Order: sequence, then structure tokens, then C-alpha cells
Amino acid sequence: MCEKCKGNYYITTPIYYPSANLHIGHAYCTVATDTMARFKRLQGYNVKFLTGTDEHGQKIEDKAKEAGVTPQQFVDNIVLGEKGVLDLWKLMNISYDRFIRTTDDYHVAAIQKIFKKMYDNGDIYKGTYKGKYCKPCESFWTESQLVNGKCPDCGRDVQDAEEEAYFFKLSKYADRVQDLLENTDFLQPRSRVNEMVNNFIKPGLEDLCVSRTSFTWGVPVDFDPGHVVYVWIDALFNYMTALGFENDKYDDLNNFWPADVHFVGKEIVRFHSIIWPAMLMSLDLPLPKKVYGHGWLNFNGEKMSKSRGNVVDPYVLSERFGVDALRFFLLRTFPFGSDGNFTNELLISTINVDLANDLGNLVSRTTAMSQKYFGGELGKGGESAELDNELKALATEVFANYEKQMEAFQFSNALAEVFRLIGRANKYIDETTPWILAKSEDTQPRLLTVMKNLCECIRISAILVSPMMPDSAEKILNLLGVPAEGRTWDAQCYCADSEATWKTSTGAPLFPRIDVEKELAALEELSKASQEPVVEIEPYSDEKVDFDTFCKSDFRAVKVKDCKNVKKSEKLLQFTLDDGSGTDRQILSGIAKFYKPEELIGKTLVAVTNLPPRKMMGRESCGMLISAVHTVNGEEKLNLLMIDDAIPAGAKLC
Ligand code: MSP
Repeated sequence: MCEKCKGNYYITTPIYYPSANLHIGHAYCTVATDTMARFKRLQGYNVKFLTGTDEHGQKIEDKAKEAGVTPQQFVDNIVLGEKGVLDLWKLMNISYDRFIRTTDDYHVAAIQKIFKKMYDNGDIYKGTYKGKYCKPCESFWTESQLVNGKCPDCGRDVQDAEEEAYFFKLSKYADRVQDLLENTDFLQPRSRVNEMVNNFIKPGLEDLCVSRTSFTWGVPVDFDPGHVVYVWIDALFNYMTALGFENDKYDDLNNFWPADVHFVGKEIVRFHSIIWPAMLMSLDLPLPKKVYGHGWLNFNGEKMSKSRGNVVDPYVLSERFGVDALRFFLLRTFPFGSDGNFTNELLISTINVDLANDLGNLVSRTTAMSQKYFGGELGKGGESAELDNELKALATEVFANYEKQMEAFQFSNALAEVFRLIGRANKYIDETTPWILAKSEDTQPRLLTVMKNLCECIRISAILVSPMMPDSAEKILNLLGVPAEGRTWDAQCYCADSEATWKTSTGAPLFPRIDVEKELAALEELSKASQEPVVEIEPYSDEKVDFDTFCKSDFRAVKVKDCKNVKKSEKLLQFTLDDGSGTDRQILSGIAKFYKPEELIGKTLVAVTNLPPRKMMGRESCGMLISAVHTVNGEEKLNLLMIDDAIPAGAKLC
């Protein structure tokens, strides 16, 4: 630990499955972890922030097969390729200190040693895995994983099966894990403790199957060929191998283990709060200090997934709104421990209200007035008033509350505190009316102090939002000309006295206001364009038609000699057709919505010619043209059946 440091701080995100479908929900946890890491660095801690990718397992093996590449090529492409995992974290400005891939050699070798250690100490033993097997999917399932008794992946029948496998004595640690959960702050928020204890521990913890033989893409059990280590054992130990546990690549265990906190999504809390501590207990290793299970981001009330269209694509969202605005939105809007509902409306209104109106306006009004009244040079001197003390007291209070909320990972509350100060400062402008003070020589000293107070409020706010919006905070501090020593955590004391000076400048608006209607419409368009179209066809008819009746229908090739709209009808087109009989045939068809008359002239179509004539808009229609109908995303589509022009008019179709 360096002398100046407050201490070491180790924070992690879950390591991601390299799937091509990373959406903004995935970025949520990493943005939160990044914010915490930046906050701790700001406080003066020596931070290690770990993230990475979880690259083994049957799913990856299957996907690689589908793509016709090796599993290693498959994961390399998604991790290192264009718009891959590394690119995404760069885009989102994620300041990780270390990135681990579970396919890294040092990690693989370490996992083999760890597995052997637990085997040697008797906590891993060989047994038989009894369960259900889906042959086409080559997958084992437990009874509870089945969906209506069938394979959850393909929906087919499963059969009883047995597979030789290694087991970890999870049951042995049930009492100790329960005690850890119930009697310490290990797992947060507290609500997750009951979930774990009641749903998993109390019903009885069974030993965990920790090896597989039905696929090969995993860490091989080196003392028993054919077995690969269960992917979660491989994945969980990343938190330690990335520090040098059982390998020589790194030497950071003494400084950073146990971890200060693992941030994880709620669905993987079970692995982190039951299996992970039990394995560490087995190896007699210190436990992480905390596991925090955050909630899920849903999209328009539904589970988020990339198939919902590219409006949940972090690349698209960052391009439209800016990375900082997006990061801010995620942390400001949703309490970290609970689920949140992401909507475009909410995103835009948060940007408009908090960033454009409140923070953006405060900065632009202050820097513009400082420029106008003092040429950007706020020198020594000034005149204080009672009102200034209120601002100062609030800034001190906000600072303390913010710190408390951040320590509890309550990012939205921490930001709410900062926006109390920003709101108060905006009100202070209205109360002190600098434009009136500027009118008289006598009130110049007061005007100077007012401007310095505003700069000070902005400086403090910028420091406090810097973990969430690093780039914007830096821009704001640059506009105020704040030197490096004024940007630190220790420079939080409120200082707008007569000795303080500022050299401000003006710039383009930091957070331009978004036209809500226009933007929503653009996002809607984008979403439609990127979504898989939903095609619907007419349901099949159960009513049978007898063969002889069907054969009576006279289908003929017809050539369009003329086609025109029918006056006063929006629907009808009037066709003059050559049907090979030597006399023109007239057919009226309600397809004006789908075709312009001129595009049909000369085409060879199909008509049923022996229907009784019908009058439509006073004109006779002798037959019916055949078309294909369906809907795309609820919109009706129609295509006339057009056949080869080489087919002569009147040719019978049968
Ligand atoms: N590989 C495992 C983690 C192993 S850690 C030793 C995994 N990977 S994942 O890619 O599926 O998910 C990574 C993280 O993204 C998880 O914490 C998960 O909860 C989170 N999220 C995925 N979709 C999410 C939302 N819609 N909202 C919030 N977080 C979500 O699990």
C-alpha cells in the first residue's frame, strides 16, 4: 500500500458470457462498478477493478459449432472483435484495472490446481449424476429444470440418465453459509438474504455436480481425462486467479484479497452467496467482504434482450444521447438494489430535466454571466450576505450525505443529493438577480461574491458527479478553470471567500435539450427497422372443398392491357385484360392501396374467370385476380400473382 493511500479497494463485476447480444442491461452492472471504482479512487483508495469474460461451457461450444468455427475463435471474435466486449467497455468509459478471460492459460492451470486441492482435501468426490438427458441437445437436466417434463432448450422428450461426475460437498457447509448470510452484512441488500435462506438453504443444500463429460469446451480435470470442470467453479475463482491465486502471473493477493465487494445481478446471487463462500471455506480462504445483488433493468415492462431491437443497444443509445448521459440515466433513475423499467420517455425526460435544465443551465448561466460581467476573471474581493451561508451549509450537508449513500451503493440517492445543491444554486441566481447587481458600480463587490458562490457550487457538484459522468465533470471543471488540486476529494471544503479567484470560460451546451416528440418518433422508427419483422399469415381453413368443385374453377393467365383507378373509389382498380378469347375482359379489384395502375400494365396475372359477373361502383367485374396476402408487424401486405410473361394469354392453369 502506498503511503498517501487511504487503503486498497478491490471491486469486481460478473465476468460476461461472450455473447454477441450485449445490451444496455448488461452494461448496467459494469457502469455501476465503474462508478464505485472511480468514487473510491477519488477518495484516495488504491483501487483494483476487475472485469472479464466467462468463456467456457456447452453453450459456447454449441454456438461455435453453429458458426462453423472453433470455440476459441468464437470467443476471441466476441471479446476482441469489432463492437465486442472490449470495445463496449471502451465506449462506456469503463476504467477497469484488469481484464480476465477464463481461457487465459494462467487461469486454466490455476483452476486445475484448485480442483485438485478440493479433491485432495475430500470436498470433491467422484459419484454418479442422476438426472434427465436430452439426446438431441446432449444435455443433462435436473427434474426441476425441465419445462412441462420436457427439455427446456428444445422441448423434446428426455430420458433418465446417469453420468459419472465429480461432486462438491456443498451440504457440508450449509450451516456455516446460513450463519454468514443471516448474521453478517455479507449479502446485500438484506432482502436477498431471506430469498437465499428460504429458497435454497432451508429446503436442504445438495452436493453440487462440478464436472461434466458430455462436452469438452472447459477446463480439463487433469487427473481424470474426459471430465471438464463445471463452468461456475471455473468462473467464480476468476476473482482470485486474477490476483495471482495459484499462479505466478500476478502478485496482488496480499494487497487485494478479500474483495471489498462483488457486484452481481440478482439471478446469480445464489452462486455468489452460497457456492462461492462454501468453496472458499473448503480451501480455508478469507471470504469477500460483501456481495451486492442488484436488480434487473427491464425494457418497456419486459425482460430486456437484443431481439427487442437496437434501441437497447449501448452503441445506438450512446451515439444519440452521449455516454455520460446514458451512464447518468442508469444510475440516477433506478435504485441499485431493485428492478427498474427502462423506457425511452424516461431516458429523454431525465436528460432534459436533470442534465439540460438543471445542471447544464446552471453551468451555462454562470459561465455566461462571469464572462459578461467580469470577462471570465473573478478576482479577489467581494461582499458576502446571509444567503451565502445557507448555500455553504447545504453544500457541506450534501457532501456528507452523498458520501454515505455512495458507501451504501445507493447511486440514485447520492445523485439526488447533488441535485439538491444544483437546484438550490439555480434558485440562488433568481434570488440574487446578478443582472440587476451588474447595473450599478456599488453592487459590483456583491456581484463578484455571487458569481464565486455559484462557481463553488458547480465545482463541488462536478466533483461529486465525476464518478458517474467522468468526461462531463472534467469539461465543467475545465470551464471553471479549476486547477488539479481543486478537483480532489479533499478539496471539498466550500471556499467562496474574498481570497478565492476563478478564471472561467464559456463553451457549447454540455447537454443539449432533446425534442421529446421527434426523438421518440426516431427511436420508434429505429426500433421497427431493427426488429425481426412479425409476419402473419391467414389461418388455414378446416372446411374441406370437394375435388370436383375445386376443379370447376377456371384459372387463366391474363395480360393487363389497361389499368386505371375508379373515380370516387379509393380501393378499386379497373383492369382491361387480354384473356386469349379475342374479347377484352374487365375485372375490378380492391387493390389500389398496393399498386399504382401504371406499374401493372403489360404484366401477366392469374384470374379465376368463371365466377358470376358482379357490379362494383356501377361497373361490371367478370372474374377475380389472384394475389398473396399476409401482414408484417400488423400491416397488411398484398402481392398480385405475376407469372412468366412467356405464358400466353388464356393459358389454363391447373
Ligand atoms: N458469466 C456469468 C457471471 C459469472 S461471474 C463469476 C453471467 N454472465 S452474463 O453475461 O449472463 O451476465 C452478466 C451480468 O449482466 C449479470 O450480473 C447479469 O445479472 C447482468 N444482466 C444481464 N441482463 C441484465 C438486465 N437486463 N439488467 C441488469 N443486469 C442484467 O451471468
